Amino acid sequence: MVLPEEVAARILAETVRRRASLRDVAVGFFSRNPELDYMKPIVRVLTLGVARHYLLLDRVLVSLGYGPPSHSQRWMLARVLVYEALSGKLKPTRARKLAEKAGLDPDKLLELRGADPREFVKGLSGLDRLSVLYSFPRWMLEELLEARIPDLPKLLEVLNSDPVRWIRIRPGVDRKWLAERLQEQGVVIEPDKDLPDVARIVKGASEATRTREYQEGLYTIQDKASTLVGWVASPRGRVAADPTAGAAIKASHMAWLGARYVVAGDVKPQRLQEAKRTLSRLGLGHIVDLAVGDARMPYWRKLDVVIVDPPCTDIGRLQYEPEVKLWLTRGDLHYYRRLQLRILASVAKSLPRGATIVYSVCTLTRSETVWVLRRLLETHPDVEIVEPEPVLGERPQGLPKAQRMLPHLHKTQGFFIAKLAKIA
Ligand SMILES: C[S@@+](CC[C@H](N)C(=O)[O-])C[C@H]1O[C@@H](n2cnc3c(N)ncnc32)[C@H](O)[C@@H]1O
Repeated sequence: MVLPEEVAARILAETVRRRASLRDVAVGFFSRNPELDYMKPIVRVLTLGVARHYLLLDRVLVSLGYGPPSHSQRWMLARVLVYEALSGKLKPTRARKLAEKAGLDPDKLLELRGADPREFVKGLSGLDRLSVLYSFPRWMLEELLEARIPDLPKLLEVLNSDPVRWIRIRPGVDRKWLAERLQEQGVVIEPDKDLPDVARIVKGASEATRTREYQEGLYTIQDKASTLVGWVASPRGRVAADPTAGAAIKASHMAWLGARYVVAGDVKPQRLQEAKRTLSRLGLGHIVDLAVGDARMPYWRKLDVVIVDPPCTDIGRLQYEPEVKLWLTRGDLHYYRRLQLRILASVAKSLPRGATIVYSVCTLTRSETVWVLRRLLETHPDVEIVEPEPVLGERPQGLPKAQRMLPHLHKTQGFFIAKLAKIA
C-alpha cells in the first residue's frame, strides 16, 4: 500500500521536473487516484513543508553522511522523512517501512525527532546561515538584501508560513450583511480599514470558495495588495485594459470600480478560459472583453488606463507557491525583467497623452522593479512617474514615488506598485 510520504515525494519530484505549481500537480494526482483522497491534508502539509525548508533538510541529510542533494523522487522522499522527523511526527513503524526506499538508516532518522533545526546551521554565518536556515537560494537573498527590506529574517520567516487571506467585495453589497451570511457558513471576515471593498478572512479560508455568496459572485478571492493595484489605477469612467490579465482578477476589479469598458488580454488561451470563468461568476461579461494577444505587440486602441502586471519571479507569492524556490535562477530573473520592460515600453508607446499605466509585480527584487522603471524612464521621456495613491505600503529606496507591500509588515503578498503618466 502506498503511504502519504511516498505520494508527497512523487508530487514534489513531478512539480520540479515540470516547473509546475505544486497545487496543480497535486490536483492532477488525486484526480487520477481518487481512492487516495483521504491523504490530501497530510500530503499538503508534507509537500509545503519540504518546499519551504528544502535547503535545511538537505543540510541535515548531508550532516548524516548522505548526498549529494538532488530533486530525484528518492531524495524527495528523504527530505519528506527528515521533515517529518524534525517536526516530531515520524512514527517508528513508518520510518522502518520507508527509510530503505529513501536510502536512509531508520535509526539515524528516528534520532532526529524533535531536534532543533538551529543546531544544523551552527558554524554558518551571514547570508550562508540565512540561506540554509530559511531555505532561500543565496542569489535570492542577495537580491532581497539589495532591495533593503526592513527586518529581512522576519520577512523570510513569514514567507515560509501560510498567508493571510483576503476577499474583494462587489460594490453595493453590504459588508455587515455579507459577514453575517458567511459566518453562518463557517467563514469569518473582518472589513479592512484601508480599502472599502476589502475584508480579511479571519477563519474558514478553505470554505471561502464554497459559499452561496461566492458562487453568486458577491465577492472574490483577492489579496489586499493586488486589490490596491486597481485602486491606484482609478479607472472610473475610463476605458481600461490589463494585457497580461491571467484569470482577470485585476481586470474584473477595474470593472467593479466603474471602468466604462475593459480589455483583458493574455498570450495564453488557457489563461483566458480561467478569465472567462471569473467574469461569468462575477457577471461582468458585458463590460470586459477577452483577447488572446502578445502584450509586446499592441493590438488595442484608445485606452485611458492600463494595468501592466507581467510575469515576474513571484518572490512576493512564496507563501502560496514555495516550490518556486526549488528551481528559480538569476537567469529567470533577467528573463522576466527584460520581458517586463518590453511590455511596459510597448504599452507606453501605444497610449495617447494623458493616459495612465500602473506597473505592478508580485516581487520585491530591485533588479525587476527599480531597474525596469529606470530603463523605461530613460528611454521614454514622454512618460513620468506619479504618486501611486492611495499609498498603503512603504517607499522603496531610490524610487520615492513607488510603493511596496511587504508580507511581514502589511500581512499581504509582497507587491511593488508604480504609477506612470503619459505626458506627450
Ligand atoms: C502575473 S500574471 C497576471 C495576473 C493578472 N493580471 C490578474 O490580476 O489576475 C501574468 C500573466 O501574463 C501572461 N503573459 C506572459 N507573457 C505575456 C505576453 N507576452 N503577452 C501577454 N500576456 C503574457 C501570463 O500568461 C500570465 O497569465
